[in-house]
Amino acid sequence: MNISVIGTGYVGLTLSALLAKVGHKVHCIDVIEDKIKTIKEGKSYFYELGLDNLVKYGIDSRNLTPTLNYEEGVKDADIIFLSVGTPSGADGGWDLTYIYDAVENAAKFMKDGVIFVQRSTVPVGTGKRAIEIIKKTNPKANFTYLSSPEFLREGSAVLDSIIQDRIVMGGDNEEKKKILFKIFEEIEKMAPQITEETPEIHEYASTYISNGGSKEGAFKDKCISTCLESAELIKVCSNTFLATKITFANNIARVCDRVGANINEVMDGVGMDRRIGRSFLYAGLGFGGGCFPKDVKGLIKSTEDLGVDAQLFKRVYELNESQVDYVVDCIKQMGVLGGSQVGVLGLSFKPGTSDVRVSPAGRLCKALSHEGFAVLATDPRAIEESKKDFPEDKNLKYVDTVEDVFKNSEIVVLATEWPEYKELDYERLSKLMKSKNFYDARNFLEKEKMNKIFKFDNLGA
Ligand SMILES: NC(=O)c1ccc[n+]([C@@H]2O[C@H](COP(=O)([O-])OP(=O)(O)OC[C@H]3O[C@@H](n4cnc5c(N)ncnc54)[C@H](O)[C@@H]3O)[C@@H](O)[C@H]2O)c1
Repeated sequence: MNISVIGTGYVGLTLSALLAKVGHKVHCIDVIEDKIKTIKEGKSYFYELGLDNLVKYGIDSRNLTPTLNYEEGVKDADIIFLSVGTPSGADGGWDLTYIYDAVENAAKFMKDGVIFVQRSTVPVGTGKRAIEIIKKTNPKANFTYLSSPEFLREGSAVLDSIIQDRIVMGGDNEEKKKILFKIFEEIEKMAPQITEETPEIHEYASTYISNGGSKEGAFKDKCISTCLESAELIKVCSNTFLATKITFANNIARVCDRVGANINEVMDGVGMDRRIGRSFLYAGLGFGGGCFPKDVKGLIKSTEDLGVDAQLFKRVYELNESQVDYVVDCIKQMGVLGGSQVGVLGLSFKPGTSDVRVSPAGRLCKALSHEGFAVLATDPRAIEESKKDFPEDKNLKYVDTVEDVFKNSEIVVLATEWPEYKELDYERLSKLMKSKNFYDARNFLEKEKMNKIFKFDNLGA
């Protein structure tokens, strides 16, 4: 089929590359020239495990054509996927400017019978408004509009896209929904080949699939057909619920710190209840990234606009905001005073990605700098991105090596749980420090081992 994907971010580029891999003729459209230029060279402009291989295949096979030109990108498309950003607006709600711009531009050039599929995270009512815009822009057009939210996680975007937990399809045209389900099934059928061709994914996939367990199963059982509004709400609810689980664990970790309980033991016990589950019940620096913070804020705004109580979601957001300050207090309680040098390991909002949008690690660096600490921070992938989102200042500097982070520091804080930080030679690194203090803000490292080397503390354990 001829397919157009609008927006080449984590969602759009991953989808484009997979559709091209399956054999579709895909145009991926963006408005930023540098991004299109890099994709044309056969690589991704952001880091995501296994994505470069797929983009390269798309370009080499000529199945993937990146373009800045809407007419070229849309005119032959049987299906148009919409995957542009939906950041927070000034009022806290989602800014839908990019969505409506993309819809209007696509509507100008679309061919008759096209299916629009919304993959971005949007508030209820966006689909209805988008349909109005398409009709207004192209009054004679015959089209279908479906909402099929994306659920991938950065850091495992390819893997999540080849083996999805569920495929939600909202709208009122059952025949067209079947076409879309089939397309996603084709991608899933290629999962073994894709993982085999990309060794890093293969290795990661085998542990992930065996740990996740529930991800495999008959494809049709994962296909959910709903009305437009339900599909839009499913995605926003999923993100807010996961954010709530994280905040719940973080709040209980604070209780554990007071009473001497261990958050990991508590959540192991709680999570073994099948009604609750263990995932996302981990204490840490809080949620961040390009999705959870804006989606919780967006749900607060749209809930309030509807006159429904939004206190639950508000509290989740506020508590998450305060988690970085809580960690700064914990560091001070270890006896590390303002003015001291603090080393920070990790800057991306989670491991496996170079994304630093609303990164708790970046926020921690800024908070420490604000308190007068001299901060030296590093990351395996995200230093350049951090320089843009969390600029260096008189107290905050980015360094290339972990040695630089430890050298002369009063304390080192683990802020993002990159796997490579598990294997560091902490014995050797500790000798570079001024004082051997270590705070694990992700509860990632083995406490017993670290206790032998450092004056060590972590969250609630
Ligand atoms: N990143 C994730 O993990 C994830 C997961 C699921 C859903 N989502 C949702 O999917 C959507 C996209 O997320 P993302 O992380 O891929 O965003 P992103 O910011 O990485 O990418 C969006 C892209 O859209 C482009 N764009 C903006 N306006 C455009 C226009 N008018 N025409 C063409 N391109 C345009 C931008 O230049 C950018 O490259 C958001 O709604 C997000 O909430 C994201």
